[in-house]
Amino acid sequence: MSSSRKVEKARSVRGTFTVPGDKSISHRAAILGGMAEGETRIRNFSEAADCASTLACLEGLGVGVDRSGADVRVRGGVDAWRAPAAPLDAGNSGSTMRMLAGPLAGRPFRTTLTGDASLSRRPLERVAVPLRAMGARVETTDGHAPLAITGGPLRGLRHELPVASAQVKTALLLAGLQADGRTSVREPMPSRDHTERMLPIFGAAVERDGLEASVAGGTRLRGAAVDVPGDASSAAFLVVAALVLPDSEVRIEGVLLSPTRTAFLDVLRAMGGSVEATLVRSEPEPVGTIVARSSALRGTSVPPALVPSLIDEVPALAVAGAFAEGRFEVTQAAELRHKETDRIAALARGLAAFGARVDERPDGLVVEGGRPLRGARVDSEDDHRIAMALSVAALGASGASEVERAECVAVSFPSFYEVLGRATGRA
Ligand code: S3P
Repeated sequence: MSSSRKVEKARSVRGTFTVPGDKSISHRAAILGGMAEGETRIRNFSEAADCASTLACLEGLGVGVDRSGADVRVRGGVDAWRAPAAPLDAGNSGSTMRMLAGPLAGRPFRTTLTGDASLSRRPLERVAVPLRAMGARVETTDGHAPLAITGGPLRGLRHELPVASAQVKTALLLAGLQADGRTSVREPMPSRDHTERMLPIFGAAVERDGLEASVAGGTRLRGAAVDVPGDASSAAFLVVAALVLPDSEVRIEGVLLSPTRTAFLDVLRAMGGSVEATLVRSEPEPVGTIVARSSALRGTSVPPALVPSLIDEVPALAVAGAFAEGRFEVTQAAELRHKETDRIAALARGLAAFGARVDERPDGLVVEGGRPLRGARVDSEDDHRIAMALSVAALGASGASEVERAECVAVSFPSFYEVLGRATGRA
C-alpha cells in the first residue's frame, strides 16, 4: 500500500530534538555482534526498517537476537553460523546485502540474499569482484541481486577501491578477519570509518595509514557494548528546514559528529548558514549537539573531495540550494545514480515541480536558487531521502504540497513526519 502525505507551508521550525540511532553504526554493531562470540548489547539501535533487515538476516543465519525497542542484544559467533533455510531478505538495504557479503564469504555454505525492486537494481559487482579474488564463490544476477555466496577458506587481499564505498570497505575488512594473511583496502577518497572505529571495541586491531585500512586474518571478535549516536543523515533534514524557513531554530542533541559524516555542515556554513556543532564526547565516535538557525543562504560549488562524506546529504543540500541566492552545484557525484533511486534524476524532477530551476548533469546537478517555490504534487520514487528532502522543500513552498509514496521514510526515519509536526507546531 502506498500513501501520500500532505505537507503545508510552515511559518517556522523550532525546538529541541533527538533523531533515531545512526543507521550505518546500527548495521555495523549488529553484524559485528553477530560475528562476535558472546553477547553484544546495543543501545539506541536505529528504528529504521533497513536495520531491522540486518537483524532478520542475522537471525536467518542462527544468530540470537533479542530486541526491545532501541535495546538490542545479539548472541553471536561466526563459526556457529549455519546455512539459512530460505534466502535472506535484505529488503531495501544495500548496506545489509553488501556488508553481510563479507563475513559470508568465509562461511562454508551457500547463502542467497534477495532485496526489493530498488535494491535489485543496485550494483553488486563492486563487492563481488574482490570477494572472488579472496577465494569465495560469488554469483550475481547480471551484476545485481539476487546474490549467492558460497564461502570457504579465504586468502588476504590488497584491494584498491575504484570508487569510495564504506560498504565495500566494510565487507572486505570483515572477510579479511577470516582470511589467511592480511587484508588491506585503499580508497580514492575517505568514506565513513565506523567499521575501523568499531572493530577494536570487538577486539580486532585495525591498522590505518591515510586512505588505507588493514586487518589481520584469523582474528576472532568478542561481544561488546555499543551506544549508537543519533543519525547525522536524519538530522540533516531538520538542519536544512531551520536554515531555509524564517524565524527558525532547531537544536539536535546526541547526534553523531564524525567528520566522515558532517561535511554537509561545512557546505551549509560555506553557504552562509548559521550552524553550530558542539562536541560532547569524542570516543569511540564524536557525538554532540547541532544548532541551526534561519539564514540567508547563497549558492556554492560542493568540493568534489567532500562528496563521499556527504553523499547521503546531497538531497537535503540540493533543497538548501533551491532556497539560496545564486548557483548551487554538485559534481563528481555519479554514485547518486546508484542509490535507492537515481537521486540526481529524482531531485531534478522533484525540485522542478516546485518551480526551481534545476539542471541535471551526468555526475551531479546545478540549482539556480532563489526563485520562490510553489506547492506541488511530487513523488518520492520510493526513496526515503528523496521523500524527506521534498517534504522540507514543501515546508518552504507556497500553499500545500502532496508527497507521493511518503511512507518510505520508514527506511531510515520512521518518526520523520511526527518530528516535523512538532517542529512546525502542528503536532
Ligand atoms: C553506507 C555507505 C554509503 C552510503 C549508505 C551507507 C555505509 O554507501 O550511501 O547510505 O553505512 O557504509 P556506499 O558504500 O555505496 O558509498
